[in-house]
Amino acid sequence: MGTDVKRLLRALGGDAVWPPPIWLMRQAGRYLPEYRQLRAETHNFVSFCLDPPRAADATLQPIRRFGMDGAILFSDILILPWALGRDLAFTEGHGPSLTPLRAVDEVLALDKSGFLDRVAPVLETIGLIRSELAQKHGETALIGFVGAPFTVACYMIEGGGSKEFAETRRMAAGSPDTFDQLIAVLTETSITYLSAQIEAGAEAVMLFDSWAGLLSPDGFRRHVIGPTAKIAAAIKQRHPGMPVIGFPRLAGTMIAAYAAEAGVDTVGMDTAADPRVVRQLVPGTIGLQGNLDPFALLQGGKVMERETHAILDAMNGRPFVFNLGHGVMPPTPAGHVAALVDLVRGR
Ligand code: CP3
Repeated sequence: MGTDVKRLLRALGGDAVWPPPIWLMRQAGRYLPEYRQLRAETHNFVSFCLDPPRAADATLQPIRRFGMDGAILFSDILILPWALGRDLAFTEGHGPSLTPLRAVDEVLALDKSGFLDRVAPVLETIGLIRSELAQKHGETALIGFVGAPFTVACYMIEGGGSKEFAETRRMAAGSPDTFDQLIAVLTETSITYLSAQIEAGAEAVMLFDSWAGLLSPDGFRRHVIGPTAKIAAAIKQRHPGMPVIGFPRLAGTMIAAYAAEAGVDTVGMDTAADPRVVRQLVPGTIGLQGNLDPFALLQGGKVMERETHAILDAMNGRPFVFNLGHGVMPPTPAGHVAALVDLVRGR
């Protein structure tokens, strides 16, 4: 690969680029004053995600400030269920709420043929981002995403966030036909949606499986690895060479099976994963991404330096992308993010 290829895309393509490229989950968000200002212009978070100039602006804010190697599309994993016809609202201090989905007729009523029209503004946002990147930030690559089917199903069934997602796990165990039908719809529409994001200009795609760690090994194979493998294979078939990142949060030792079987090129490590152990569990042909503790970033200074160096030492020689183990916390000082970027780049 030539050196004109963006550093992030080289790392996601399997090169041990060093120092590693860096971007952060939730790099656009409330810790940035310019984000809070933009956010205050729209009461409704869903409308914000569907407003191309504003969503493009939010995506680019951390790029303008820190020059990250990756820009993550500003949107949300719950835009897909919304586009499939489920009610969705975000309330301040409470997070997302959806009408809980519990019955098979609600699965059958999901609007698989109409959803792509409803996400048209997101595809338009991607075009706006790519043109500003081309003009001003030629080294930064745009990452598109979806929530992985299991995690999206968690929010749809429960009707919002939860510690245990008890209703979801009850349905998976007690009404497996209904659950499998929901996962099948999410798998199919995620393939269509990611393909559309790629056609609109996304240069890599990521699957966020935030609640993968709730499952037993058997459940993890069925509901995390199975659907992810279908999505990754379909993306690879339609868009050869397109990098796919998977983030099976809190997978524990199941990260080994995920890396071997899910068909993703790069696996995201969560905060609890020990990169020295993951290095042993995951074949060297698979890239790794992560996993600084968001609280170490919040703390900054010596704590952040020590933890960052430990990750860099553990990952040296591997295809690797520096990131957090989960999203940036809203009270994080922006200066800590700037210091982290300098630290990783060895400045
Ligand atoms: O910088 C980025 O990462 C941009 C895009 C992005 C958002 N959410 C914006 C957002 C991405 C990739 C997500 C993914 C997402 N959304 C996940 C997977 C990753 C994870 O965090 O585990 C999940 C589970 C969601 C669902 C979701 N969205 C929740 C639970 C919440 C409420 C919690 C919170 O932080 O407010 C959201 C809202 C949300 N999504 C915000 C942002 C910037 C905050 C909304 C606001 O500004 O008021």
